[in-house]
Amino acid sequence: MINMAEASQILASDETIKVMEILKRYSSDKDNLIPILQEIQKNVGYLSPDFVRLVSKHLKISASSVYGVATFYTMFKFAKPAKHNIKVCLGTSCHVKGGDRILETFERLLEVRCGESSRDLMFSLERVACLGSCALAPVVVIDDTIYGNMHVDRIKPILSKIRG
Ligand code: FES
Repeated sequence: MINMAEASQILASDETIKVMEILKRYSSDKDNLIPILQEIQKNVGYLSPDFVRLVSKHLKISASSVYGVATFYTMFKFAKPAKHNIKVCLGTSCHVKGGDRILETFERLLEVRCGESSRDLMFSLERVACLGSCALAPVVVIDDTIYGNMHVDRIKPILSKIRG
């Protein structure tokens, strides 16, 4: 019987194998950086520090150069995908109505920093610019549900309800 720690090891090495297979298909030409990152994002779902290191070795460029490019594009995620995705809007309207406090409360309750997934992989947390619903500011989107006029006091009950 495999315990959870062993299972997560196997999962991690499966992902690493996938990344290695992707890298095998590309030469060390630095122009391959974005296509490689796109393929890892598509097939593995995120760019872990280990994957970034593998890419940097393959292309013979620094890991910080890889991050420099990857962080420029919103399509790349750096945390393992969780079951539920939380987007906290920090566009101007949401920011002036307390978006920062909303984000901090999610971070505290989930024990994660923005851009990370919770340890149980139930929630990933990210900040976004305007979601196009400024009249409802401050706005949070969890999966496909929009939560308008968000207040810090509503966050705990919402998370409990989703956890079920
Ligand atoms: S600024 Fe948040 S929805 Fe527009």
